[in-house]
Amino acid sequence: MFYLKKDFQFQENQEGLVIGLFERSGKLEGTLAELDHEFNGYIHELIKNGEISVKEKNISKIHTLGKIGTKTIWFVGLGKEKNLTFEKLRDSFGRLFKEIHHKHWEIAFLLDSFTNEKMDTLDAAHAMSEAYALATYHFQGYKQKQNEPEKSLSELTIYTDYCDQEELEASITVGYAFGKGTNSARNLVNIPGNLLTAEEMANYAIDLAAKYDFEVEILEKDEIESLGMGAFLAVNQGSTEPPRMIVLKYQGKELWEDVIGLVGKGITFDTGGYSIKTKSGIVGMKTDMGGAAAVLGAMEIIGELKPEQNVVAVIPSTDNMISGSAFKPDDVITSMSGKTIEVLNTDAEGRLVLADAVTYAKHHGANYLVDVATLTGGVITALGLHTTGAMTNNECLYEQVLEASFEAGEPIWQLPLFEKDKERVRSSKIADLNNSPGREGHAIVAGAFIGEFAEETPWVHLDIAGTATASKDYDLGPAGATGVMTRTLALFVERFEPLEK
Ligand code: BES
Ligand code: ZN
Ligand code: ZN
Repeated sequence: MFYLKKDFQFQENQEGLVIGLFERSGKLEGTLAELDHEFNGYIHELIKNGEISVKEKNISKIHTLGKIGTKTIWFVGLGKEKNLTFEKLRDSFGRLFKEIHHKHWEIAFLLDSFTNEKMDTLDAAHAMSEAYALATYHFQGYKQKQNEPEKSLSELTIYTDYCDQEELEASITVGYAFGKGTNSARNLVNIPGNLLTAEEMANYAIDLAAKYDFEVEILEKDEIESLGMGAFLAVNQGSTEPPRMIVLKYQGKELWEDVIGLVGKGITFDTGGYSIKTKSGIVGMKTDMGGAAAVLGAMEIIGELKPEQNVVAVIPSTDNMISGSAFKPDDVITSMSGKTIEVLNTDAEGRLVLADAVTYAKHHGANYLVDVATLTGGVITALGLHTTGAMTNNECLYEQVLEASFEAGEPIWQLPLFEKDKERVRSSKIADLNNSPGREGHAIVAGAFIGEFAEETPWVHLDIAGTATASKDYDLGPAGATGVMTRTLALFVERFEPLEK
């Protein structure tokens, strides 16, 4: 799929060629100057009059009309050299791939034309392969008649003078693995709730474990009962679909120490239960397992890249349904930790299943915890649809997650966690905790609730209710599931440094 070559020649017979174009004053240099020469100065003219655009993320195309071997040249505008960041470069590649991916079978890249002082060919290779996987993603769906595209880009030849071929190949592999893992998460989120049940999600995890040699443990209902996971079970109580607690273990260090616990909310459909959602609010709730999908996507990347880290992934999976046996507001339930919970709102189910999952992750030796969940509409009110809400009990761990999110291009923003917020979660008159102390700042109290179960273990909470899906197409993907936090989690794990004790 990716081929590396040196010494580019314009006379080679090629369907298409891609060149990065910075906004520079003065004469054209290098390959561009050669190209301009072949076209008797015409390229320079087109750049000057803006028909070939140098502006950031602008894509321009010229036909060479037999002047050279290459039939079509695509220019990717990169703006001013000093302003180009890795994120902008990845987005630009994304935009290019969206434009060309049904126009060519194969294409060649002049990769060195995409580099600046801060970003070398290895970065460009990573950005390119990641964007290729992400931007060409498409959810197959269930239509009887599929619209088969005429062409699909599947061969990318990369011309570069970079000397270390192995390093280059590694960068391409890493970028592609990040993109692919994200696409797997997107697939899981896009599958409807009748087809992706807790049992199916467990089967998916079993297949992943077999592929990457992870240890796998799937708890069925009777085992969940014997472990006393009363909070998780309460959410499942109204369903005819049995729950699953899914555990995957990846051991990249000799000893099972400094274990990172990744915990993902895996509600396959959220009706709200007796605190039922409105008829418009309920549509789309198949995506309430976006946290689980991010964790599974990250585990795929971890399986591919095998970092020297220890990871336990824990996913509580069930739907949240209504029936004669469903849990109700006012019920009091007992979590695995022993903490009792007064249920005030059955639609605040995510924190209940996560409570037991966090306890279980610690049981499996997790020394650090990151939970990911489509937890609250409140985070959308607070931060909108582009930013994931974060909370923590440990700023140093948070710094590491923040850095990973920045590099992954998945922005997060921290919400506060004060004593007064904790007090609200602890304000039940008849139980240790209550699951819904009111709508004010409810993204914060939802996080605070999970924090009660993390206790002293360093923990970061990521609320992706606003970011797990996109309503419109964007540079790196189509409308629908985004796979958000897959890459952040994987990068976080790869770079993770244990905190000083
Ligand atoms: N799954 C929802 C949160 C959600 C909302 C996800 C919108 C994706 C898009 C969650 O279980 C929920 O219903 N939260 C309630 C909590 C409330 C009852 C305290 C909410 O945010 O309204
Ligand atoms: Zn809910
Ligand atoms: Zn939910």
